This record gives sequence, structure tokens and C-alpha cells, in this order.
Amino acid sequence: MLILGLETSCDETGVAVYDSERGLLAHRLYSQIAVHAEYGGVVPELASRDHVRKALPLIHEALAEAGHTVQDLEGIAYTQGPGLVGALLVGASLGRSLAWGLSIPAVGVHHMEGHLLAPMLEENRPDFPFVALLVSGGHTQLVHVAGIGEYTLLGESLDDAAGEAFDKAAKMMGLPYPGGPELSKLAEQGDAKRFEFPRPMTNRPGLDFSFSGLKTAARTAIIKQAVDGVLAEQTKADISACFQAAVVDTLAIKCKRALKQTGLKNLVIAGGVGANKLLRQQLTEMTRKLGGQVFYPRAEFCTDNGAMIAYAGCQRLLAGQSTDLSLSVVPRWPM
Ligand code: KG4
Ligand code: ZN
Repeated sequence: MLILGLETSCDETGVAVYDSERGLLAHRLYSQIAVHAEYGGVVPELASRDHVRKALPLIHEALAEAGHTVQDLEGIAYTQGPGLVGALLVGASLGRSLAWGLSIPAVGVHHMEGHLLAPMLEENRPDFPFVALLVSGGHTQLVHVAGIGEYTLLGESLDDAAGEAFDKAAKMMGLPYPGGPELSKLAEQGDAKRFEFPRPMTNRPGLDFSFSGLKTAARTAIIKQAVDGVLAEQTKADISACFQAAVVDTLAIKCKRALKQTGLKNLVIAGGVGANKLLRQQLTEMTRKLGGQVFYPRAEFCTDNGAMIAYAGCQRLLAGQSTDLSLSVVPRWPM
């Protein structure tokens, strides 16, 4: 089955052509980071407009690279939510109407299911069941995954998502948007022992997270260290290193707990923060010690992309599921 995948939930336009027999044939990604950078965050209306501009040319490019035309398509998958409503509507209306015009089924995909299944695009893919850590700008969740569509929430953040905490801490230090990757780059030159930041909610039972206290700890350190409102470059790097270590330790402790609690050996990391090198290192080490294995998508499929939506949608379509003609998107949507 030849599927076109469309991702337009936030600030990346992702397009992919996926074949259920041959795998991923082509993918294209356009990031709007430059559009939003001067505002320090995503401006929803600008995001929608840019998706409108980019989606069709990217579809043409991806189909051409895959050696197919639009008439060869047998199904279309688009992100139905969660995300920015205007941005979601671009992909949904494009995908839905294209499918209607071609008389093929379309399916609306949950963005986080896309992230969760992204490791399935790799050669080294996990068998079900596994524990997944979903860590993006909007979500921090531990999920028990028994199979496609069989998800049980084990724990989640009670306040900020891990990516959001990274972004906010970065913003407090004046780092450019999006802050997460910038902060982690800076952390490489920092001393992770200089400041003591908490590992929130790790010394009580349970699998929930909370990152707002950590953000406050970072703010306190920034205010204390700033001289005339300015932080020395080394101090910025040190705060970054300490902050990153605290987030990564917290995530690793909860992942270990989730594996022990479920008795499972395999862990999947998905979502933008999954691109974080220290997190990958620590989780690799932790699962190895437990006799298990950690799986993650290649870095470019950790952040938003069309390939994960094409894959997840393909599984849904193969299972006979599709979305009717009513054009609905779901900006807030628990998985
Ligand atoms: O999954 P994603 O692309 O979009 C959402 O669905 O949210 O994740 C974006 C998030 C942002 O908060 C970004 O700062 C964070 O992932 N991120 C990182 C890194 N790369 C992306 N956070 C820490 N370290 C990184 N290397
Ligand atoms: Zn995402």
C-alpha cells in the first residue's frame, strides 16, 4: 500500500511517501524555525500560512523522488491532532480533499502515535510489547505499548513537558529559539557539578513527572549569578550542563522504574527531546545494565516529520481504519 504522509501540527511541514512492502521511499521536511525565531516562539497564524505555501511543492518533490505520481497513491495519512488548530487544518484539508479527489481512503493520525511508532522506520526495530518515553515540546509521557493502538499511559508530566522546560530555561538565558538543542550544545562545555538542581519527584513512588520546580531552580541560579543582568558565558554553559543533567537523570530514573514495574526489557524513546545526546547515552547504559535495549529513531525522525505520520497511518489503513469525510482536527487530544 502506497501512502502519502502529511505532518503540519506545529512549525514543520513534513511530507513522506511510504510503501507497506518497500518501506520509506522519500521524505521532505521544511522547518519554519527562521520564520518564528524573531518572535521567540511559534506564531500560529504564520505557521498556518507557511504550511499552505510549502505543503504542495514538498508533496511533488517527495513523489518525484519516490518515482511515483499522485495517481499511484493508495492512502493518505495526515496529523489530526494534537497541535495548533490552523496548522493542523492545512494538512487535514489538503490530505482529506486529495484523498477524496483520488477516491482513496484517508486517515487522521494522532501526532504522538506518530512519534511513538517512529522507531519502526529503522532497521533495528523493537518487538511489541515495549515501554515508550515520549518527550517532546508538548508531552512527557511513559506509555506501555502492547501493539499498534494498544497504549496504556503509565505516567506523565503534571506541569511542563521536558522539551518545554528545556526551551524555557534556554530562553531565560537569552539563547535563541528553539532553546532545547541550543542549551544542550552549550552544556557540552559546562560543568554539570557546579550547581545542584533537583531531580523532581524521583524520591517518591510513581511514574509522573514535574519540571516546573526545575525551571524555578534554573531561574534562581540565573538571577544569583547574573552581574548587572548579564551571565558570564561559562556560567551559562554550567547552568545548561546542570539543567540538562537534572532533566536527563529524572527521565532515566523514571524509565528504569517503568521497565522494572512492567517487567519489560525494551525501551523506545520518541519525540524531539529524544535527539538529546546525553539522554540517549544514559538510557543506553541503563537498559544495558537491565539486560534490555533502547530503540530510537534516527535524529531527524525524533523531531516532527512526515515519515512517522505515513508509517502510523499506513498501519491504521492496513487495519481497515479510515477517517470519514468530515474535516475535523483535534487540537487537544489525549492518546
Ligand atoms: O517532537 P518535537 O519536534 O515537537 C513537538 O511535538 O513538540 O519536539 C520539539 C522539542 C522542543 O522543545 C525542543 O527544544 C526539544 O524538542 N529538543 C531538544 C533537543 N532537540 C529538540 N531538547 C533537548 N535536547 C535536544 N537535543
Ligand atoms: Zn512532535
